[in-house]
Order: sequence, then structure tokens, then C-alpha cells
Amino acid sequence: MEKLNSKKKIAVFISGRGSNLKNLIDYSKLKKSSFEINLVLSNKSNAKGLKYAKTNKIKKYVFEKKLSLFEKEALRLIKKFDINIVCLAGFMRVLTPIFLKKVKIPVINIHPSLLPRLKGLNTHLRAIKAKHKYSGCTVHFVEEKLDSGKIITQKKIRILKKDNPETLAKKILKLEHKAYIEALEKII
Ligand code: GAR
Repeated sequence: MEKLNSKKKIAVFISGRGSNLKNLIDYSKLKKSSFEINLVLSNKSNAKGLKYAKTNKIKKYVFEKKLSLFEKEALRLIKKFDINIVCLAGFMRVLTPIFLKKVKIPVINIHPSLLPRLKGLNTHLRAIKAKHKYSGCTVHFVEEKLDSGKIITQKKIRILKKDNPETLAKKILKLEHKAYIEALEKII
């Protein structure tokens, strides 16, 4: 039987800065959190976010050569650490249908736009160029088709005339941090 106070175990996949990872770790330490971060995986050995795993004594692994090896090792570690949910947080590879079929636990992602608008990269520049009134972020389940799975949470912000891709990215990143926690608590 599951313990009443047991928290869900999360693996976070990153490729870079790791501000979303840090935010999830910080929140997970609060009593009210329904989850804990048990595993960090990166496809880049120079991902700055790896330092948050180190300082918080969270197991971290890097597999940078081939996506197929990354996925194989990820499946092994997810099983080994009894992980319940995978969170992609600035993970810049597209997971294969084979991985998504084999993983058997929810995989969720944060994307810096109001999906289904602006799938893919450079979302802030594209939002400004297209003169969109609003942008924001979306947390969604990962499915085979890129940035297309069921939406869990969205947060939106008005794009101001004076905004450029950098100012917009900064504002949206703050929303991302709130959205990821809300989304996780919602699905748990
Ligand atoms: C975030 O803005 C996230 O939404 C985006 O990368 C950034 C990672 O920041 N993800 C994608 O674009 C995925 N397609 P972080 O490393 O500081 O969390």
C-alpha cells in the first residue's frame, strides 16, 4: 500500500541553464510539495543547471553522445529510482516515439509560448514579429508530435510595444516557474 505521506518522485531532463530545475527543487523542499526531485539527466555535460543537482545532492547523469543511448539509460534509471513523472525543463532534444512508448509514466514539458501557437524554437522573437498581443507559457503532456500533447496549464502575458525577445523571455520565465509547479500539483 502507498504510504499516505509519500511524495511523487520526479526526474528532470535538462540541456542548459536549469532555472526551471532550480525552481522545482526549491519548491520540492517545502512541506506542502507533493513531489520530490530524485534524478537529473542532461544531454549536455556543460549544462549550467547540473550545478543545482550537485548542490542539492540529487543524482545526476549526463549522456551526450547519442539520443538512443540517452533514452536507453534514462529508461534504466527511471526504473532504478522508481520515478513517477518525467519533467522536461529546457531539454532541447525531441524524445523518440520508442522512448515515449516504453517509459510508461507521464512525461511533461514546459514550452515558452501559448500552444498551439508557436511550436518549436525562437518563440519570443516570432511572437513579436507576428505582432501577437499576448504570449506566455504552456505545460503539456509530451506526445509523439512536437509540442502537441494535452495542455495542463497555461499562463499568459501581454506583449508591450517596448518588449524585445530578451525582455519578453525574462517575463515569461517568471511565469514558467509558477506554471510548472501548478501543473505538477494539478496532475499529482
Ligand atoms: C525555458 O524558457 C523553457 O520554456 C524553454 O527553454 C528554457 C529553459 O530555461 N524550453 C523550450 O524551448 C523547449 N522547447 P531553463 O534552463 O532556465 O529552465
